[in-house]
Amino acid sequence: ATTLGAAAAGSGRYFGTAVASGRLGDSTYSTILDREFTMVTPENEMKWDAVEPSRGSFNFAAGDSIVNHASAHGQKMRGHTLVWHSQLPNWVGSITDATTLRSVMNNHITQEMTHYKGKIYAWDVVNEAFADGSTQHRSSVFQNVLGNGFIEEAFRTARTVDPSAKLCYNDYNIENWSDAKTQGVYSMVKDFRSRGVPIDCVGLQSHFGAGGPPAGFQTTLSNFAALGVDVQITELDIAQASATAYANTVKACLNVARCTGITAWGIRDSDSWRTGENPLLFDNSGNKKPAYSAALTAM
Ligand code: XIL
Repeated sequence: ATTLGAAAAGSGRYFGTAVASGRLGDSTYSTILDREFTMVTPENEMKWDAVEPSRGSFNFAAGDSIVNHASAHGQKMRGHTLVWHSQLPNWVGSITDATTLRSVMNNHITQEMTHYKGKIYAWDVVNEAFADGSTQHRSSVFQNVLGNGFIEEAFRTARTVDPSAKLCYNDYNIENWSDAKTQGVYSMVKDFRSRGVPIDCVGLQSHFGAGGPPAGFQTTLSNFAALGVDVQITELDIAQASATAYANTVKACLNVARCTGITAWGIRDSDSWRTGENPLLFDNSGNKKPAYSAALTAM
């Protein structure tokens, strides 16, 4: 295969990228996007602050532009994200009453998933709910006002709204099997599976340092998969993008049957949120970097 998407399809997987709606008009950007990638995650356009900046007032225009582009080019979509403590409007963060917040959270999930119903392969229902270096949930308005049950409630609501979308939990620093945070998320997924709480997939963001994936990354992928969920590498970027680090990441996914796809968190280095780290597969001019060839060959 000569593209990332075609190479991934050879084993029934996808290769995706984060997309910023404001860049779709850049032809260098959109040419690479449509040539290489078979899955699209909106980088910011489906987050709460973009979609529901004030209570009950929804704006889907930017997200729609990405969905329309993806649909026109045969790319699937990952919805990102419904419930997250970050990029959350102040009006949500200042709610102190549980009945109100529960209704606001479930309404947000319902309105957004209904708008995109039938167009989203998988949703990141809850993003980054666990604390670093801990097995416990992080502090957030959802955790502090609703308690531990908010994650389960979000997944149950999501399943009701769009039963055909895959429902994922997504987080960072859950790639190393021996980290407490990984163990915390693993315990939650195991508990959800044993009690029938609807969860289909776990997204490992995989924002790596220069060394690439931690030792044991493949073990983490296969241990989550053994709980009966799909796993995906959802936001891959690697400081300085060494070819070996990218190849090792791809190989870990390919070695796990239920690792169904890899998404890079942007196209060119100049598109990356990690300014100055050159962590992506294409340089600022859109040329393929050594990491690109390494990833393609490893697929
Ligand atoms: C980042 C975007 O790339 C930036 O443009 C934005 O300013 C901040 O968010 N974890 C996530 C992503 O789940 O949504 C984040 O994306 C990166 C970390």
